[in-house]
Amino acid sequence: MLNPAVYIVGAGPGDPDLLTIKAKKILDQADVILYANSLVPKQVLKDVRPDAELIPTGSKTLEDIIPLMIQKVRENCSVVRLHSGDLTLYSAIHEQMQALAEANIPVELVPGISTFQDAAAKLGVELTVPGLVQTIILARISGRASSVPEAEELASLASHKASLALYLAARHVENAEAKLLEHYPADTPVAICYRLGWEDEKIRVVPLNEMAKISREEDLIRTTMYLISPALAGKQVAARSQLYHPEHSHLFRQAQ
Ligand SMILES: C[S@@+](CC[C@H](N)C(=O)[O-])C[C@H]1O[C@@H](n2cnc3c(N)ncnc32)[C@H](O)[C@@H]1O
Repeated sequence: MLNPAVYIVGAGPGDPDLLTIKAKKILDQADVILYANSLVPKQVLKDVRPDAELIPTGSKTLEDIIPLMIQKVRENCSVVRLHSGDLTLYSAIHEQMQALAEANIPVELVPGISTFQDAAAKLGVELTVPGLVQTIILARISGRASSVPEAEELASLASHKASLALYLAARHVENAEAKLLEHYPADTPVAICYRLGWEDEKIRVVPLNEMAKISREEDLIRTTMYLISPALAGKQVAARSQLYHPEHSHLFRQAQ
């Protein structure tokens, strides 16, 4: 049985098999579940208790959600606040945690798989390939709800030519493509990842200079993450890490 508290849980991108064991255990025992219904598909909730109270939050404001969570915990309920992907990015949990702390409500965070990780697995790639790319940037573009600090503008992040997972950008895809093209070559592969783990999931790998055109043509907007990376062409690149190389020694193995 769960203690009365708010459990803020990362649901992963959509496939219920990508819930962590801890997330699944908590979800399936909870009394009340508030879930971001625009981003969390119903299939993630398939094994919850039949008497669990399910509350979609798509049409609610923080002013509705916070008092509801406080009230339920004070009534001795275990409350899950379910967000898509992982909680560390674009989950708007910071302000929820502050408000819950002010009300002395216990909170536990349970991480999830983020969209970029599911995308890389589906594409069969590692995003850090020796000699090619060794950094992953998780980014967004300024939108209606949030503005990005100037030092983190997409064009300046693009200057690193790292593997870049671009969230929350579908509405601004033309602008995003133009900023990325300031630094990445036009033929850099981009995986357009639409609703991963949902029934209508689509993934298209296209050159960067077709990212906006294909997104619009195929209506791959809303709930789309763009993965821009030289590693997507990595199958043609001969590269090897030193870690498992016979001539490399480390704490657990002498060089041969
Ligand atoms: C509010 S953010 C949440 C990100 C989430 N915390 C994560 O770690 O994946 C929503 C954005 O994440 C991406 N996203 C979330 N779920 C997705 C999915 N199933 N398929 C593709 N993109 C997804 C899209 O870029 C979407 O606009």
